[in-house]
Amino acid sequence: WQNPALKKAIPTVVSLSDEAAAMAADDWSQSSLSVVVVGASGDLAKKKIFPALFALFYEGLLPPDFQLFGYARSKMTDEEFRDLIGNTLTCRIDARSRCEDSQAAFLSRCFYCPGQYDAPEGYANLDKKCKEQEALTGKMVANRMFFLSIPPNVFVQAAGGAADNCSSPTGWTRVIVEKPFGRDSASSAELGRGLARHLTEDQIYRIDHYLGKELIENLTVLRFSNLVFEPLWSRQYIRNVQVIFSEDFGTEGRGGYFDRYGIIRDVMQNHLLQIVALFAMEPPVSLDGEAIRNEKVKVLQSMSQVALEDVTLGQYRGRSGAGRSGGADLPGYLDDATVPKGSLCPTFAAIALHINNARWDGVPFLLKAGKALHTRGAEIRVQFRHVPGNIFKHKVGPNIDMTTNELVIRIQPRESIYLKINNKVPGLGMRLDTTKLDLVYNDAYSKELPDAYERLLLDVVNGDKRLFIRDDELEQAWNIFTPVLHEIERRKVAPELYPYGSRGPVGAHYLAAKYNVRWG
Ligand code: NDP
Ligand code: BG6
Repeated sequence: WQNPALKKAIPTVVSLSDEAAAMAADDWSQSSLSVVVVGASGDLAKKKIFPALFALFYEGLLPPDFQLFGYARSKMTDEEFRDLIGNTLTCRIDARSRCEDSQAAFLSRCFYCPGQYDAPEGYANLDKKCKEQEALTGKMVANRMFFLSIPPNVFVQAAGGAADNCSSPTGWTRVIVEKPFGRDSASSAELGRGLARHLTEDQIYRIDHYLGKELIENLTVLRFSNLVFEPLWSRQYIRNVQVIFSEDFGTEGRGGYFDRYGIIRDVMQNHLLQIVALFAMEPPVSLDGEAIRNEKVKVLQSMSQVALEDVTLGQYRGRSGAGRSGGADLPGYLDDATVPKGSLCPTFAAIALHINNARWDGVPFLLKAGKALHTRGAEIRVQFRHVPGNIFKHKVGPNIDMTTNELVIRIQPRESIYLKINNKVPGLGMRLDTTKLDLVYNDAYSKELPDAYERLLLDVVNGDKRLFIRDDELEQAWNIFTPVLHEIERRKVAPELYPYGSRGPVGAHYLAAKYNVRWG
């Protein structure tokens, strides 16, 4: 792994990961890498996995002897598979450059093997195909990395089939699994036991793609490498923390999946909770994957289980004549043909989380997530306490809550970090307003941000587990949400309806008001 591009291509924040990579580095002059995408005909493979692998390949970050194998039930030849992948690739890293040569080189390394997910002979064929190509590299060691990009009902069979019949005979075998990791504590534990029959914990990489987003990676840097933030990071100065996720589109086309999970399982129990864990954990002893995950587990253990009175649920309803393109109707959740009639599945939730430790006692963490809202975005908002005995409190205009500062970490889109401060309006006299100290990534950095899957796939190649969910972390995450999820289902709690494209149900404001908080 001596590629100089590795040092250049990723900005300094990620060089920490490079160090970890260097420590765990395989000697790629002696070994090859086969990446196997199980479920290669599917949406995630096309949308995220192939483009991310190509981006890494384009930047010279994959080992020289890399090849990609697709596995799924659909019948395809290698050529047809290459056409399928070819349609997903773009020259996004440098839009001005022509990357046809790289695309052709990438596609020439792609192979396809059809097979059933529960059939050992399918994986045995795959193993044969891998071995044929691996032999051509002339390398003694052939490492294999599987990405299980398939529906959860076939996770365990596929993991077993791949591990038992297609593990690398000479190098390492790593298996990436996608969420959902179960529906509650019991089903997650069952899934864990199923995987453990075939794989060691060390081999399993549970993806939460939010951990691969640039601003989430930056959270630890922001906190632990800037003297100005970490001393403020506690109940002493922080009044509340909000983690807000919104999408301006509904579950169109995914209603079947979504209805079984709902918004709490879909994004809160995983993406938003992971953000809270990274935000609130104690300083880890090092950047080592285990050190960070130890701290995340500890802070998750300090959280109370979510109480029903701390939950507001919503479901979007249709709006006629409100569509973006000239007044078409916007469908409600229940208008989706794949959603059961009368479903109570929440497409919106706001909840309050409490962390019972010395740092966060009494600070509400408010999480809000919704589909079909007025905007798309994800951000963390940190509202600070009032300045004690503020001598300027009579100098502010009517609508300014000038007694509190707010730090906003905008995860997407328009990635940025800004701090709202009180400032004197320039000129004679003494009038104050609120303004921003502002870091907009697009303005500050010329390089395009890598997609989350690029970072995460590269970490798997390097054996860096820092950004992947450990089994005890997952168990703890489910402990926090399982009782309330069961209670919602047992009591058949009806979600409050909100119009497609609105700001969500008013119940969310009542929940915030209960904690004396205004959503940012
Ligand atoms: P798909 O529904 O596209 O399924 C992937 C492939 O699995 C299909 O191409 C199909 O391949 C096979 N498949 C589909 N349904 C079944 C079934 N009932 N039984 C057996 N095989 C089936 O899934 P996605 O690609 O969207 O997602 C893959 C995984 O990633 C899922 O676990 C999903 O929850 C997760 N995920 C997806 C995201 C996304 O944006 N798509 C985002 C986050 C997570 P074939 O028929 O050729 O075998
Ligand atoms: C997925 C959820 O995990 O994350 C989807 O299943 C959601 O419902 C998606 O749309 C959001 O990811 P991103 O990266 O587009 O914010």
